[in-house]
Amino acid sequence: MAIISKLGHVIESQQFSRAVLEELIARADEIKREPHRFMGRLAGQVMAALFYEPSTRTRLSFEAAMLRLGGQTMGTDNAREFSSAAKGETLEDTVRIVSGYADVIVLRHNEEGAAKRAAAVSTVPVINAGDGPGQHPTQALLDLYTIRAELSKIDGVRVAMVGDLANGRTVRSLTYLLSKFEDVKVWFVAPPEVAMRDDLKAHLDEHQVPWVETQDLDAVLPEVDVVYMTRIQKERFTDPETYNRVKSVYRIDKGSLERMRKYAILMHPLPRVDEIAPEVDEDPRAAYFRQARNGLHIRMALLDRLLT
Ligand code: CP
Repeated sequence: MAIISKLGHVIESQQFSRAVLEELIARADEIKREPHRFMGRLAGQVMAALFYEPSTRTRLSFEAAMLRLGGQTMGTDNAREFSSAAKGETLEDTVRIVSGYADVIVLRHNEEGAAKRAAAVSTVPVINAGDGPGQHPTQALLDLYTIRAELSKIDGVRVAMVGDLANGRTVRSLTYLLSKFEDVKVWFVAPPEVAMRDDLKAHLDEHQVPWVETQDLDAVLPEVDVVYMTRIQKERFTDPETYNRVKSVYRIDKGSLERMRKYAILMHPLPRVDEIAPEVDEDPRAAYFRQARNGLHIRMALLDRLLT
């Protein structure tokens, strides 16, 4: 699935080639440096945001991106309640209708595979803004952009993915993107209840990307350039006992910072709960607010790439 054509969909990280990733990063840099050059690029075009799950960053950064490019936006928050889904309309029928009103659809849904289903019936590009525990490819784009911006490289990077890896769509999407670069190594740090799924480990093996699975975060901190923390996602657990057992296993605090490399960075897709202590925010290695800001520029680059 390519994003080269004007009508391409953005469903999963595997579809991006390294060349397209580098092109998007370069375009995001240009947009950040000279935003005035991109004003009005998408004038007359409309983005529909269909969000069946809560969001702050993805929804608002996509809206801001479209508006800053001169386009317009419409949409529905809490679409399960406030769209005709509440009356029993299928996702497919909703997307058929909305694709007649908009030039692009940004979809967040609680079910894995929802974006692919939407793309199958849409006449305009569908962008997966998170499908349950499946993928969140545009988060991965901003994560990759952040790694390049903060460390001036992606090849050779050492990354620890920490927390709810079984349900973590951002971790899955970012790992798929990292597998396209050279000499990358990944540590999966998680309790067994929420360990990384086997399909992604098989993908890394297939692409000769070394990975390590461990529960010992302290031992990993001095080894890596990127610590990618994630929230234990309460909403994905059917058994409250399991959630309570794993919810506070990992927490980055000042002591953790002392174990990290001087030039490493701490990332988090956000929102956080208690897995990063607020005292950490002042440390220059805390990159998560800069990371969220990067979402604006990479999403502008993506919309520009899809719609011009
Ligand atoms: N990182 C992320 O997807 O944040 P939101 O849920 O606020 O969109």
